[in-house]
Amino acid sequence: MTWSGRRVLVTGADGFIGSHLTEALVEAGAAVRAVCFYNSQGSLGWLDTIEPDVRAALDVRLGDIRDARFVEESCRGMEVVFHLAALISIPHSYQAPESFVDTNVRGTLNVLEAVRRARCARLVHTSTSEVYGTPETIPIRESHPLRGQSPYSATKIAADKLCEAFRCTYDVPVVILRPFNTFGPRQSARAVIPTILLQLLRQAPHITLGNLEPRRDLTFVSDTVAGFVAAGTAAGIEGETIHLGTGRAESVRDIVAAAQRVCQHEANVVVCPERIRPRHSEVMVLQSDPSRATDLLGWQAKVSLDEGLRRTAEWLRAHLDRFPVDYAI
Ligand SMILES: NC(=O)c1ccc[n+]([C@@H]2O[C@H](COP(=O)([O-])OP(=O)(O)OC[C@H]3O[C@@H](n4cnc5c(N)ncnc54)[C@H](O)[C@@H]3O)[C@@H](O)[C@H]2O)c1
Repeated sequence: MTWSGRRVLVTGADGFIGSHLTEALVEAGAAVRAVCFYNSQGSLGWLDTIEPDVRAALDVRLGDIRDARFVEESCRGMEVVFHLAALISIPHSYQAPESFVDTNVRGTLNVLEAVRRARCARLVHTSTSEVYGTPETIPIRESHPLRGQSPYSATKIAADKLCEAFRCTYDVPVVILRPFNTFGPRQSARAVIPTILLQLLRQAPHITLGNLEPRRDLTFVSDTVAGFVAAGTAAGIEGETIHLGTGRAESVRDIVAAAQRVCQHEANVVVCPERIRPRHSEVMVLQSDPSRATDLLGWQAKVSLDEGLRRTAEWLRAHLDRFPVDYAI
């Protein structure tokens, strides 16, 4: 199937993964409507930084996914909807769980209702590996039980369950993609990889981090985007939940070592108590079994951790002025 001329909506198009996905869909020939979070500056987030010809091709809608009427109007006439908008910071979810429920649960309900009414051909909903909590078995398969170890995770579980319910009840053609940790250019500086790289690139004598032991399955953003694009077109996958991950897991300590090689700067690590999460909330390992993605989407991750870190460091080096120094300490 070709994307040429297909009417596609991306929520969270202003964000890290959403902006890369939006670019990829325009480049593939789709007619893309980009839903960006309304703000009084008229900022389109990362879409303000993309190539002008790609930006000019977009039908931009500024709004809020908590607003059912806005979401319904945005979905009207769309064939494929990619739903990525969410509040994603786990530490912030400890402080503001109500806004996570409003955005991640209510917002997803609005998208499901709108897709149902507009009779869209496919909804690709974005879940997260955080829904598993610390797993009972690794690698994690899609059938593993879910456990909300943070308000963020609990709201993403609720959103996934609404997708399941709308599939069972109304036959909404939804596919749940479950990315493991994604990294690359444009990721929030609060995430662990930009936090490490920014400190190394600024030649910090020591780098400040939280717990060094948790292990994560790290996918470079171009691979994650390729998985989304495939999930928008693959035949017969309605109702499926599919992992996007590499099948490997690296500890924060391993990531620091790889980042030091890439940045050619050595620094001692200082563990900062404020960055340590509550003991039962920290998820100690997330390692995917990505074989369903290979079977159903013909997808597998291609970019190695070192190559992804090199590309991310190169981008951060060119955009250091965008990241206030205190983000990194
Ligand atoms: N980055 C990762 O490692 C990762 C891993 C697994 C899953 N995910 C999921 O991928 C999706 C995208 O995450 P990201 O990393 O690109 O984060 P991001 O914060 O860069 O993107 C989320 C976007 O949602 C938008 N948004 C938030 N609230 C909104 C609202 N009320 N109305 C409209 N827009 C709103 C924000 O403006 C932001 O651009 C999320 O659903 C997240 O849960 C991310």
